[in-house]
Amino acid sequence: MRVLLIGSGGREHALAWKMSKSSILEKLFIAPGNAGTAQLGTNVDLQPNDFKAIKDFVLENEIGMVVVGPEDPLVNGIVDFFEGDEFLKGVGIVGPNKEAAQLEGSKDFAKEFMKRHNIPTAKYQTFTKDTLKEGQAFLESLKPPYVLKADGLAAGKGVLILDSLKEAKKELKNMLSDAKFGEASSRVVIEEFLDGIELSCFVITDGDAYKKLPEAKDYKRIGEGDTGLNTGGMGAISPVPFANPTFLDKIENQVIIPTIKGLKSDGITYKGFIFFGLINVKNEPYVIEYNCRMGDPETEVVIPRLKSDLLDLFEGVATGTLSERDVVFDDRSAATVMMVSGGYPESYEKGKKIEGLNKVDESIVFHAGTVADGPVIKTAGGRVLAATSYGKDLESALKKSYESLAKISFDKAVYRSDIGHDVL
Ligand code: AMP
Ligand code: GLY
Repeated sequence: MRVLLIGSGGREHALAWKMSKSSILEKLFIAPGNAGTAQLGTNVDLQPNDFKAIKDFVLENEIGMVVVGPEDPLVNGIVDFFEGDEFLKGVGIVGPNKEAAQLEGSKDFAKEFMKRHNIPTAKYQTFTKDTLKEGQAFLESLKPPYVLKADGLAAGKGVLILDSLKEAKKELKNMLSDAKFGEASSRVVIEEFLDGIELSCFVITDGDAYKKLPEAKDYKRIGEGDTGLNTGGMGAISPVPFANPTFLDKIENQVIIPTIKGLKSDGITYKGFIFFGLINVKNEPYVIEYNCRMGDPETEVVIPRLKSDLLDLFEGVATGTLSERDVVFDDRSAATVMMVSGGYPESYEKGKKIEGLNKVDESIVFHAGTVADGPVIKTAGGRVLAATSYGKDLESALKKSYESLAKISFDKAVYRSDIGHDVL
């Protein structure tokens, strides 16, 4: 099969790495990709939201399957574009359509969905510019900290957690009346704060059957001990020690199954990955958020633990035959640590030469923000690369990832030295 993978991060390098091992892969293209994906297939200079250019490329290159990595093109309707085009009808596409992608694209849609299907989540109400006063009154009825969420996609920045009521009221006004996050904050979800420890679960579904992938825990803050600004994710581990079989069963019965059934009963055909962002509150799982794609860096730790042929599963999704395919996991633990540019998640410099990549032999190095300049690989983003290692347990996997990162360097490189420490 000839495959086009859309995206350019560590997630896409990990998906490309796994697909490149498939016995049914004929040729892999990645749009736009990075220096890591270029070692596994052909990078093509296409932007994920330029559907017309993607269509032309797919037809010219006889692509049989398109795999969409990031949320943006999904929320913007790339799947609907493919399904509605007479020339693209025969091309398999992995990802939810625009309506289904609202699970991530609109916090209010996701909360309504969970309420309708009795899926455990924080209590909430949604407000607009016209109901700002009511929103401020609702804040007064809650206990701190206050959780404010821009309804739409805001590049991971749209959630504010505030300790003071005064600050929360001010920020609500900034979001609703002063468009702090643009159109994304024209509606704001205010919800009850849940106190617990987070983890993420993933399924792949063809709209009917679903298959679970290993769970993971991601480390979102830039600083040691989970302090400082939120990032896309600084590292991840899988499995998650506190997610014992009883807790995983609760997740499946109280969250995953009601979500799959709820989508079906709402008449929404969901094909692709569902990412459940969860929190464990006194041994009960609650949904913090849905994402309509795999996580990054969760993909870098979860996909290496998948033994099955990923492209075979994608074919199952595209053809509605997922129930006939097997998902087998690797029993080993895996740990991923991200190396980022100094300054990230605020401003940072690019174009730094990365050294030592060829010295790593005990980890897989997934590229995120990298670019090849002839034989030299340079930084090209905030999150630059991720070292993933296997181990008989998390401790040994983490040790290997840290040993590998010690061999890699670039000017102003930063990584957290405490990934996994809170749960070991
Ligand atoms: P989200 O974009 O919805 O995942 O929110 C970003 C982060 O904010 C989550 O990963 C949590 O750490 C935190 N968060 C979101 N909602 C809540 C909540 N209701 N209670 C506590 N923390 C939350
Ligand atoms: N690592 C969090 C995410 O991908 O949303």
